[in-house]
Amino acid sequence: MSMKRRDFLKTGGALLAAGSLPLSLVEVAFGKESPQNFTFAFISDSHITHIKGNEFVRNWDMGLKRAIAEANLMTPRPDFIIYGGDIAQLGTKEEIDHGLELMGALRGKVHYVMGEHDYYVDLGDYWRKQLGPDYYSFDHKGVHFVVLNSIVTYDEWTHQDWDSPMARMKEMARLDNPNGSPFMVGPTQREWLRKDLEKVDRDTPIVVLSHSPLQKIYKGWNFWTDDAEEVQALLKPFNKVTVLYGHVHQIQYNQIGNISFHAVMATAWPWPYPSTYSQEASHLPKLTVEMNRADPFFERDATGWQFINMDSGNIDVHYTLPDNSNRVVAFNEDKGHPEDTKYQAEGNQIPPQEHY
Ligand SMILES: [Fe+2]
Ligand SMILES: [Fe+2]
Repeated sequence: MSMKRRDFLKTGGALLAAGSLPLSLVEVAFGKESPQNFTFAFISDSHITHIKGNEFVRNWDMGLKRAIAEANLMTPRPDFIIYGGDIAQLGTKEEIDHGLELMGALRGKVHYVMGEHDYYVDLGDYWRKQLGPDYYSFDHKGVHFVVLNSIVTYDEWTHQDWDSPMARMKEMARLDNPNGSPFMVGPTQREWLRKDLEKVDRDTPIVVLSHSPLQKIYKGWNFWTDDAEEVQALLKPFNKVTVLYGHVHQIQYNQIGNISFHAVMATAWPWPYPSTYSQEASHLPKLTVEMNRADPFFERDATGWQFINMDSGNIDVHYTLPDNSNRVVAFNEDKGHPEDTKYQAEGNQIPPQEHY
């Protein structure tokens, strides 16, 4: 499919007019006129929550439904859709079934990423039964995509003597999980990744899709992957590497060596930044210009969508944020890292929201 960027922007504009959109639209392109240009949609963190019987928390259902409706309206069609993890809140069969039933309305192939909320009740059994392997790779129009399950942890924690599987799930389902354990990719997947990348040319752009950040931001909330450095080392030989991740429900971006990092928004709710909420020091990337805190009285505030342009194999993210100023985080070729095109400069922070 050949699609020029301006055509995509036109499409984005049409979608923008439809309102606040809790999904990510991604354009990957190499050279403005390249026949390799294509788009994919990115939806993440819907946290479908079962109440009882056929009842589910309406707000989280609506966030996912809205994302699906907008993805179905994309013209031209996205080549595929990524689901970034945490489709469920407590990983139950009811929640996963309901989430996948909603996702059934989405037209197009979906590649799923495992989130901790999908995993810790049965260690991913039901998710895998429905969706297949939790780590894999695929090639699409010149880009090598890698999906990792980055939310596993140490066996001593996972297999300790829990009162019930749900007790284990609930320890990991909290934002602050003092009895939890740090996420990691783990040695099995790292070895698989090493082998998977052996066959990939060093100039092939790599896009890694993970649930947790493959960088260390704040351990107390598991905005963290314990073996991030080891995974980064495996990606180091490649010229253009981008990691897209969910889990943090907020804008984050960073550059570590050759690797650009971008978080995507959730369809369910935003998380605050660790420093504003817990008043604790965090390793939020210095590059990241923070979003405003969300107004809790607006259901979709600080959820949002973005489309991503990858003309040169590096990514520019266009965030569209209801009740917040729109953002463009673009790769700066001269500086070799992403930066906000409007708010990056010191003293040029985002104007505060008026409802505060
Ligand atoms: Fe999440
Ligand atoms: Fe998560």
